[in-house]
Amino acid sequence: MLDLHTKPERPLVAASILAADFARIAEEANDALDKGADLLHVDVMDGHFVANLTMGADMIRGLRRHLPDTFLDVHLMVERPHEYIDSFAEAGGNNFSFHLEVCHPFHPHGPEVGDLIDRVHGAGMTAGLVINPYTSAWPVEPYLDRLDLVLVMSVIPGLGGQSFMPHVLKQSQWLAERVDGRTRLEMDGGLDAETAPPAVTSGVDVLVAGSSVFKADDRAEAIAALHRAGRR
Ligand code: DX5
Ligand code: ZN
Repeated sequence: MLDLHTKPERPLVAASILAADFARIAEEANDALDKGADLLHVDVMDGHFVANLTMGADMIRGLRRHLPDTFLDVHLMVERPHEYIDSFAEAGGNNFSFHLEVCHPFHPHGPEVGDLIDRVHGAGMTAGLVINPYTSAWPVEPYLDRLDLVLVMSVIPGLGGQSFMPHVLKQSQWLAERVDGRTRLEMDGGLDAETAPPAVTSGVDVLVAGSSVFKADDRAEAIAALHRAGRR
């Protein structure tokens, strides 16, 4: 099993199964892993925080059954992440990332970020905090020493296949200057052979890729190109 706290020598590729064929999900996940993906990224959407609906704890459970040794990175695009911590942990999730925008004080009745981090750790998962492309990075700073991962969205969450928003590189660079070696900096949305190099140069070490992996004619080459990002 991947150790998220070890700084990788080359960027890790998290294959986002949102872009896979849902009717053949185990086969698709296996294929991406066989072709070099380091972990799987699972997008959970609730129809409230984002308009789309995707998958829940049962998908995690199914993936875990088929892939006992694969790191499952769960990205919750939901309004009430605190209600899902225990069920996702029990289903076999490894990392649980929730959005800053649903937390207090961004959301007046939202959970406290620190409480959520503690509860995620208490459930045996690593904790990730996510910011949207138009959310400032500085409110993340007080939590950096307790977070295992910070995720900077490079598209508006809710759909795969959107174009990379380059202005987010300022956020990732600002965060990269402040995270220590045991905290991963992840980026998600519109990443491919063209957009991954500037992301890695800004300090990102986990690249989430959906369309550029699953829709590629040559998935092994698509993943290898992401691994090469940042190499001079
Ligand atoms: C978007 C999701 C992403 C998505 C990325 O809301 O969080 O993980 O799968 O898809 P691509 O790589 O197609 O932009
Ligand atoms: Zn995602």
